[in-house]
Amino acid sequence: MSDLDSLVTSASAEFGAAMTPADLENAKARFLGKAGRVTDLLKSLGALSVEEKKARGAEINATKQRIEAALHLRRQALADAELDALLKAEALDVTLPGRHRGIGGLHPVSRAMERIEAIFGSMGFDIADGPEIETDWYSFTALNNPENHPARSMQDTFYVDMKDAEGRWLNLRPHTSPMQVRYARAHAAKYAGMGAMPEIRVIAPGRTYRVDSDATHSPMFHQCEGLWIGENVSFKDLKSVFTDFCRRYYESDDLELRFRPSFFPFTEPSAEIDIAFASGPLKGQWLEIAGAGQVHPNVIRNFGLDPERHIGFAFGMGPDRLAMLRYGVNDLRLFFEGDLRFLSQFK
Ligand code: PHE
Repeated sequence: MSDLDSLVTSASAEFGAAMTPADLENAKARFLGKAGRVTDLLKSLGALSVEEKKARGAEINATKQRIEAALHLRRQALADAELDALLKAEALDVTLPGRHRGIGGLHPVSRAMERIEAIFGSMGFDIADGPEIETDWYSFTALNNPENHPARSMQDTFYVDMKDAEGRWLNLRPHTSPMQVRYARAHAAKYAGMGAMPEIRVIAPGRTYRVDSDATHSPMFHQCEGLWIGENVSFKDLKSVFTDFCRRYYESDDLELRFRPSFFPFTEPSAEIDIAFASGPLKGQWLEIAGAGQVHPNVIRNFGLDPERHIGFAFGMGPDRLAMLRYGVNDLRLFFEGDLRFLSQFK
């Protein structure tokens, strides 16, 4: 092999050994740079005769071109490899299943609320919504629960250190009963001076707050208030409406209701409503689901109505409790912890 052939061979070998573009540039300098081996060869031409120069010069130029060709090939190969690596790193497997968003479901308490609204809606009840930050007057005073009366402690609540524009203390409502007053007052005002007034028939579901936390109580919970006021609405109607509601809610006639005498300042007489199933895991157990009673005359007056003419009943039930019984949940707090392992069971 001529010295020139072996130069091409060693240049190709060194280019081939270069694994990065920088290595390749260094190798190129060793052969084609100012102090490179091809340049050295060209410099050596000076010592030759004119004839020899021509022949040797042409050979060296041809060698240089072969080395440049080898360099070009290796450059291309390194660039291809780089692109390849990049494509691999950014590889996208279009056959992988997509990362879809899980399909959500309604919260079990929302489902309970929807069922309650649908059932009472079908019985001709309106559905009302009201503030969770209430005034002392609506939460207690208007409900025949005078300031400083010990009965207030039944619904011991979260007070806000703030008064409304009329100087009434604010609290987080401990029950939905203030909605009786808000709704009835608006209704009475709407029909004032018209002689006759349509009956008040409304439910008011929503969040309520008390200083309470155990398996059947959470500081935030739900209630659904019910109010039916007319000229002749009695306890008998309460019983039939509520019994009908429970049967429809639990989709069973196989349950019993018990009205246990109780006390609320805003109803007289008052009752606690218990329910018992004739079958299933809770068979025979009495479970409290609501408070109720005939609306007290003082409260009817605060509605802006005449208790001699307008009477009726109210109830307040716990949708959380209803949902617990319907789904067999034994700790109310599970509903509000946001644990998907629990919640996704209701999808
Ligand atoms: N507000 C009462 C409670 O929170 C329930 C109730 C409502 C009782 C309406 C009678 C009438 O316990």
